Amino acid sequence: MRIIGIESSCDDSAVAYLEMRDGKVVRLEQVVASQLVHANYGGVVPEVAAREHSAKLPLILKELARLVVDTADGAKLGEVTDLVAATAGPGLATSLRVGLDTARGLAAAWNKPFYAVNHIDGHVAANWLPGQDAPSLLEGNDPFPIVALVVSGGHTELLRLSGHDDYKLLGATLDDAAGEAFDKTAKLIGLGYPGGPAISRAAMNGNPQAYDFPRPLSSTDDFDFSFSGLKTSVRYFVEKNVERLSDPQFVADLSASVEQAIIDVLVLKTVRAAEESEVRTVLLAGGVAANHKLRETLRSVMADRLPDVKFIEPRPEHCTDNAAMIAMAGYFQSNYRDSDDWRTIEADPNWELGRSANQ
Ligand code: KG4
Ligand code: ZN
Repeated sequence: MRIIGIESSCDDSAVAYLEMRDGKVVRLEQVVASQLVHANYGGVVPEVAAREHSAKLPLILKELARLVVDTADGAKLGEVTDLVAATAGPGLATSLRVGLDTARGLAAAWNKPFYAVNHIDGHVAANWLPGQDAPSLLEGNDPFPIVALVVSGGHTELLRLSGHDDYKLLGATLDDAAGEAFDKTAKLIGLGYPGGPAISRAAMNGNPQAYDFPRPLSSTDDFDFSFSGLKTSVRYFVEKNVERLSDPQFVADLSASVEQAIIDVLVLKTVRAAEESEVRTVLLAGGVAANHKLRETLRSVMADRLPDVKFIEPRPEHCTDNAAMIAMAGYFQSNYRDSDDWRTIEADPNWELGRSANQ
């Protein structure tokens, strides 16, 4: 099965070719074009993002064709493709539409089945892409049930999966996403966008116990999160200490303390969800899953509290938005449901897992 995946839900334009044989990945090629232009605005501007997708997608598809079929004009990509998958939601409406329409066009012209993929499903599927633990996942070892912590710029969700098509939402953020907490803190400190990698780099030289920030909802017995209070408390703290922002050690300590506050609540609720829902596996997904401290902390707390539960995480480069994960989710979907109709499928900016995309 050879799959073309397209992702354009936010500010990364991405295409991938995934070749599966006997349930194993035998070839993966991918091209991602990050939209650096948003750094000038300190966040993603939807209109700008859509225009960038329109400019970049044809170019990176052409590059993918060169990688896959190695011909100068890429004319044969359609001949080596069995299925086309693209993100249909959730995400920015205008951004989604550009990638989805590109994919619909390819499916129509090549006469191939088309699958609309949920972006969150894609992040979860990234755990099955080539990496440390993926072979054991694909070689018949049943990882289900799974608790998945999905943490990105737009999402913070705890899910329980009984299968690739069977999701139950355990809890979610009531306001900001974990990635937003990183991004907004970075903006307040002057570290630029995207904030997650910048905070995490600065935090490496800092003391995570230097300043005490709130751990919202950490004592409630649900699986919900809230990060807007943390953001407000960081804002007051920065306003009071604005003259210290020129001191690199202050920035490092502040970054490490905020990072620790975010990680503490994420780990606490994930481990409790795994304990209460009696799962075989815990997995991480989404851009924030690239955070080393989160990965290490969850791994070590699980080794201590849940030694019999397997912990898996995607390779860091598969955590942030990419199209390989969309191709992988398209592959799983093709195993359990019919394809979508490229004539009628529409972008679904608020698509919740567990229901069908707009038709
Ligand atoms: O999954 P993603 O690429 O896009 C969305 O679907 O939102 O996630 C992007 C988010 C951004 O908020 C970014 O700051 C965060 O992931 N992120 C990180 C790290 N790398 C990316 N957050 C913390 N630590 C990182 N190393
Ligand atoms: Zn994402």
